[in-house]
Amino acid sequence: MKRIGYFQFKPILGDPGANRKVIAESLKGIDADLIVLPELAFTGYSMRDRAAVSELTETPAESQSIDMLTELCSAGNCHIVAGFAEKDEKKLYNSAVLVGPDGLIGVYRKIHLFGFEKELFDPGPDAPVVYDIGGLKVGMMVCFDWFFPETARLLALAGADVIAHPSNLVLDWCQKSMITRCLENNLFAVTANRFGSETREGKELTFTGGSQITAPRGVILSSASTDSDNVSIIEIDEQQARDKNVTPANHLLNDRRVELYGGLM
Ligand code: ACM
Repeated sequence: MKRIGYFQFKPILGDPGANRKVIAESLKGIDADLIVLPELAFTGYSMRDRAAVSELTETPAESQSIDMLTELCSAGNCHIVAGFAEKDEKKLYNSAVLVGPDGLIGVYRKIHLFGFEKELFDPGPDAPVVYDIGGLKVGMMVCFDWFFPETARLLALAGADVIAHPSNLVLDWCQKSMITRCLENNLFAVTANRFGSETREGKELTFTGGSQITAPRGVILSSASTDSDNVSIIEIDEQQARDKNVTPANHLLNDRRVELYGGLM
C-alpha cells in the first residue's frame, strides 16, 4: 500500500519565492509516498515571452526550488513531482521534476505544448520514462499531454503504477478523460491542477481546479474544489495497477494488434 496525493493551489505569476513559501508551508510535516504539484508551480503560467521565461527558469542542477522540495522530502521521507520551468543552455522546457529525500531523481520535458506555450518553450525531445521510488513505479506527464492517449500508453508500457500529472488545465474535459486513460491503461493517475486566473496580452485564462486521483478501473478516488487550496492524500494498493487482465482471456497490453497500427505513425 502507498500514500499518494496532490497539493492544489494558485501559483503567483512571476514570483517563485512566494510560491516556494506557500508550498513549503502547506506541505510541512507531510506524510505520503508521493505528492504531485501543479504545472509551472514556481513561476506561474502566462509568461510574456521567452525572455520572461528565461529570467524565471532555473537549471535543475542549481535550483532553490529543488533544494526546497528536497528538504520537504527529506523531512517527510516522501517524493514530490512538481511542474518546473527548466532552462538547459538555450533551450526552455515546460518540465516536471521528481524529487526525493536525496534530491533530484528525474526530469520530464512536456512533449505536447498547448497554445501560446509554443512561443515560450521548446517541445520535450524524449519519451516519458518510469522511475521506481521505493517499490512504486511513477511516470510523469504534463497537462495537455492528457489529450494524446499515446503519452499514458507509453507510461503503461514502461510499467507505471501511477502517472504524476502536474497541470494548469483550462479546457473542461481532462478530468473526464483521465477516467478513460486510467481504465484503458489500468493504472492510477494524480492530476494536480491549479485554480485562479491570469491575464496575458489582455486575455484572461481561468484554470479549472478540480484536481483528481483516478484509479485503474476509472474510479475517481479524490476530487478537489474548483477554487481553493486543497491537499489530498489517499492510500492505494499499487498491485491493482499490475494486473493488466481485463477478463481471463484479455490482457490490455498483450492483446494489442501492433502489426495493424502502422497507420498511427
Ligand atoms: C495546458 O497544457 N497547460 C493546458
